[in-house]
Amino acid sequence: MRTPFICGNWKMYKTVAEALAFLAAAKDLVAGAKEVEIGIAAPATTLKSLADAARGTNIKIGGENCHWEKEGAFTGEISPAMLVEVGASFVLVGHSERRQYFGETNATVNKKTKAALAAGLQVIVCVGETLAEREAGQTRAVVVEQIQKGLEGLGAGDFAKLVVAYEPVWAIGTGKTATPAQAEEVHAVIRGEVANLFGKPVAEALRIQYGGSVKPENVKEIMAQPNVDGALVGGAALKPDSFAKLVNFRS
Ligand code: PGA
Repeated sequence: MRTPFICGNWKMYKTVAEALAFLAAAKDLVAGAKEVEIGIAAPATTLKSLADAARGTNIKIGGENCHWEKEGAFTGEISPAMLVEVGASFVLVGHSERRQYFGETNATVNKKTKAALAAGLQVIVCVGETLAEREAGQTRAVVVEQIQKGLEGLGAGDFAKLVVAYEPVWAIGTGKTATPAQAEEVHAVIRGEVANLFGKPVAEALRIQYGGSVKPENVKEIMAQPNVDGALVGGAALKPDSFAKLVNFRS
């Protein structure tokens, strides 16, 4: 009943030429994929060309970040409406690299999420604990707080366009994937907290992606977990054949 959502996150990789070459190769490889939502979060400079080239395909294009204001003196920032204008239909908010290197907090994640939803974007809100937090036994508390504060003030109606990505920071780009059981455990915590805050129907319908060293070799067992509804993938989403294998995880 929850359509799986496989999404690439290109981070600071790919020029426009590289992005278009990827899309040209990938679109045919995923054209036959059924009952799966397919996205690529890409660098801002590539979004317009990518979104134009992706029109008519089953791949949607999104931003990796946005600001919460509509416009203003915020050098280097991009508003949700600017993403919409160039053809992005979704945006990542609160990725751990944004939290770690660019000072993003649960409070700014909340403001960005609300602003992006108001602009009509689908939002993928990223949460996850660091290695130190996991080792200190704080995983549940950290993730619950990220959900409570990050989603504070949202209404049940907002969840039609909201996805949560659980990405344990220690598993991102490290080759260390959470075991399916570890992912499932935290995904269940997230769904339980969303049920507490927004009610069971909202929680049951919410897609929760796993992210952190997902690759063609492990995607199937991760996707088999009852509370895992998709994947947010960095490294393994940079090559068309690997990306297509993730999308076609059932075969
Ligand atoms: P990874 O990155 O797949 O390279 O671990 C995931 C992410 O950061 O979204």
